Amino acid sequence: MNNHLMPTYKRKDVSFVRGDGVYLWDTEGKKYIDALSGLAVTNLGHSNLEITQVLTSQSQELIHTSNAFNITNQEKLAEKLCKLTCMEKAFFCNSGTEAVEAALKIAKKHANDKNVVNPKIISMNNGFHGRTLGALSATFNGKAQDGFEPLLEGFCPAPYNNSQWLIDFAKDNNNVVAVLLESIQGEGGIIIPDSDYLENVRKICDTHGWLMLVDEVQSGFCRTGKWFGYQHSNILPDVVMLAKALGNGVPIGVCLAKGEAAGTLTIGDHGSTFGGNFLSTAVGLKVVEIMENQSICKHVTEIGKYFSTELQKKLKHYKIIKEIRSKGLMVGIELNKESTNLAIDALKIGLVINITRGNIIRLLPPLIIKKEHVDEIIEKISLLLKNYE
Ligand SMILES: Cc1ncc(COP(=O)(O)O)c(C=O)c1O
Repeated sequence: MNNHLMPTYKRKDVSFVRGDGVYLWDTEGKKYIDALSGLAVTNLGHSNLEITQVLTSQSQELIHTSNAFNITNQEKLAEKLCKLTCMEKAFFCNSGTEAVEAALKIAKKHANDKNVVNPKIISMNNGFHGRTLGALSATFNGKAQDGFEPLLEGFCPAPYNNSQWLIDFAKDNNNVVAVLLESIQGEGGIIIPDSDYLENVRKICDTHGWLMLVDEVQSGFCRTGKWFGYQHSNILPDVVMLAKALGNGVPIGVCLAKGEAAGTLTIGDHGSTFGGNFLSTAVGLKVVEIMENQSICKHVTEIGKYFSTELQKKLKHYKIIKEIRSKGLMVGIELNKESTNLAIDALKIGLVINITRGNIIRLLPPLIIKKEHVDEIIEKISLLLKNYE
């Protein structure tokens, strides 16, 4: 334990020193299977050779110049991501919360351009968008906002997966400018909305001229079996936020937009010193290339089905389990009692997991896992749950 770190994290007392594929090793040489990927980040596994090679070669050539100059890698990655998302313009930053900040600035500027007085942005109960003050103001999730009031004005919480609420809200509020939501709620406990929910939200946004801002920070990059979670529905958002897996551990975030939203921010409206530098965008390009070449989305769809079937088969007899939810390799096992120590007990048997909302096991394994890894993870969870029955 280091006394010089602000105690913002409840860290588990394990120090990893090495990673390879889906495995991690600690200072004692103990091996762990990683069913978390640093929270949906190292989707292509630890110490991925191709990524290591890009990091080495790009750092030997050029790491950083600043956004005062052209950055070819950034232009190439913007083009690639725009193609994948069907967006038109990209703004690069360094994290998920910054991608959300950019999206919120687009919504605010859009409102000002349209002379909307006291503009409102709707975001979802139980959602999560980050810890900086704008993103936090939109994060109506447990205790995240406590102690930071007054937050930014104009954010309204809405129930997730309830489009009727939005229709009713629109009747009394003509100053709404945007709806911000995740295509699947991650921190919120792997909450998968009804299959027509995003389409309904899109229709409501179109009817009232609201921007639809979709946060794919956790669910993006093949995690759910599609490049982005919203692609399970027949819609296009106005703005898409990405981060986490795009860098496989190297900090990078991006806010993408189309239509009016794409033209909202102009010179001097936003910026980032590091955003989209040569190193992070070289890695981003490689991550996307690997995902394309190895058909990672297809693999996730197949292995995700196996994961879900095996989970139901091997765990359904546990009385402690309330529900198992999954989409691709975004998995939530909801327990019917608080089990915050479970993640610590999991480490004892060489398994890395996360507990969200106090009673939901969240599994976000690297997308490169094979059947034998799935079997190993489920076997360890089964062992773990025996002591919690
Ligand atoms: C959906 C979503 N949005 C935004 C964020 C914030 O990302 P970051 O921690 O990179 O700032 C997270 C982080 O978990 C997230 O899950």
